[in-house]
Amino acid sequence: MSDSFALQTRTLDLRFGGNQVLSQVSLGFRAGEITGLIGPNGAGKTSFFNCLSGHYQPTGGDVLFNGQSMNKVSTVQRSRRGLVRSFQHAALCSEMTLVENVMVGLNTTRRSGWLDALLPLPSWWSDREEAKSAGRRALDLVGLGALADLPTAVAAPGVKRLVELARAAVSDPRVILLDEPAAGLNSSETADLARVIKQLRDKDRVILVVEHDMDLIMNVCDRIHVLNFGQVVASGTPPEIQSDARVAEIYLGSPDA
Ligand SMILES: Nc1ncnc2c1ncn2[C@@H]1O[C@H](COP(=O)(O)OP(=O)(O)OP(=O)(O)O)[C@@H](O)[C@H]1O
Ligand SMILES: [Mg+2]
Repeated sequence: MSDSFALQTRTLDLRFGGNQVLSQVSLGFRAGEITGLIGPNGAGKTSFFNCLSGHYQPTGGDVLFNGQSMNKVSTVQRSRRGLVRSFQHAALCSEMTLVENVMVGLNTTRRSGWLDALLPLPSWWSDREEAKSAGRRALDLVGLGALADLPTAVAAPGVKRLVELARAAVSDPRVILLDEPAAGLNSSETADLARVIKQLRDKDRVILVVEHDMDLIMNVCDRIHVLNFGQVVASGTPPEIQSDARVAEIYLGSPDA
């Protein structure tokens, strides 16, 4: 299993009306590696994530997770199996503390549901305490343990992004999909974020990062795939991608790169 892909797509197609968003995308992702997905605005990166997570149903092809087709597996079931993502414009709940926001990441994996919260049984309280401990550990991992009880409303943007990473990591998932985690961050916040993404690396975990910040991508990724108009146009290591003439033309050389 070590040389096979933990997460894979086979000839994935996605179409909205006449708009072919993804065309024959066949990519494999190994546990233990951090993979980057880059490409111009509208290339289909978020749509690809949506197909992996089950938020979009592909019009063709297949998503395989540990060799099993995900086509008929719901988003909730996928996250219970350890396939977790962060959303491109994810908001944290500003009324909650940082640790409470991280605990939200456990929601689909805990036994207790909303009924338990209305009629709290002893198991609900012990679950809540366990969840809070897990939330604190995840915040420790991203270097924010001391800020666990800070109201989210007063947290800086860089802190919020790290909290999103903690929320993605709190359930110890097998796959983490990060969609533009550095958007809106300054360079020192981005450097902190890069360090934390590397800390999330685990031999049993696939990490996939979509980002426009090339320094971040080149710094954290083992491999990079380039999407353009929904097609994979290049794949390679950071130095290979940096010296790829097609990539320079379609992406790195474009005015908004
Ligand atoms: N739900 C939808 N309905 C219709 N079209 C959609 C939908 N979601 C995405 N698209 C289209 O798919 C194409 C790719 O969009 P997507 O958001 O995946 O690009 P992206 O690579 O993530 O871009 P960005 O870098 O700007 O985030 C766009 O043309 C977009 O309009
Ligand atoms: Mg996007």
